Amino acid sequence: APVVAIVVAAGSGSRLGGEHPKALREVAGVPLVARSVHQLAAGGVGVCIVVVAAGTEDAFEAALGDAPVPCAIVAGGAERQHSVANGLALLDLHGGLAGAEVVLVHDAARAFVPPDVVVRVIAAVRAGADAVVPALPVADTIREVTDDGPSALVDRSSLRAVQTPQGFARAVLLDAHEALEESGTLVTDDAAAAEYLGHEVTLVAGAREAFKVTDPFDLVIAEALVARGQL
Ligand code: C5P
Repeated sequence: APVVAIVVAAGSGSRLGGEHPKALREVAGVPLVARSVHQLAAGGVGVCIVVVAAGTEDAFEAALGDAPVPCAIVAGGAERQHSVANGLALLDLHGGLAGAEVVLVHDAARAFVPPDVVVRVIAAVRAGADAVVPALPVADTIREVTDDGPSALVDRSSLRAVQTPQGFARAVLLDAHEALEESGTLVTDDAAAAEYLGHEVTLVAGAREAFKVTDPFDLVIAEALVARGQL
């Protein structure tokens, strides 16, 4: 059975500005969502379920016209978690995907994730991990702030920044999202969803290139690196 990736692209992208969904923004003429699907496919993903804002389906269909793997497009929800849940619902619906044992969840905005990160995530799930996230050490020194009290230094050596794609045994991800929906709990990523059911989260090495294109500064960096052949 193919490895399935749910690619979430239903965010507004308000920090980037512009009227179009962020995942449709182009870097060197290629939409971010198309770059994400291309990188995932190069790392071993066989099918993508792309979750987009309602009403933008046609534009995404066009942006993914040349995708190297089959892509299904489905409307997302108000929060990222709901968007993932909508993607999972499609996974359940599609007979052909019912056999998928490894399911990844990827932010479309991490459009330059190197294939070897994807390979590491899939391999760790195949090796028996319930939930796998790519992560990097934190470069900045971090201070924790409160509204009134003094700020506090956090031990940076114990911190990791988490990226996507995150990988899961299919049943783990399905059960976790079901449990969150039943209890009305919101989490910010899918590893936290798995953790909610008590599953351990396994870390593999992430990559700088898997940065999330969030604001105009990131687009400038992306354009420059692509122009230099480094992405
Ligand atoms: O807002 P943030 O950058 O954390 O969003 C991460 C990813 O989740 C983005 O790719 C965004 O498109 C997606 N998202 C979504 N549905 C939402 C909110 C965010 O698919 N309701």
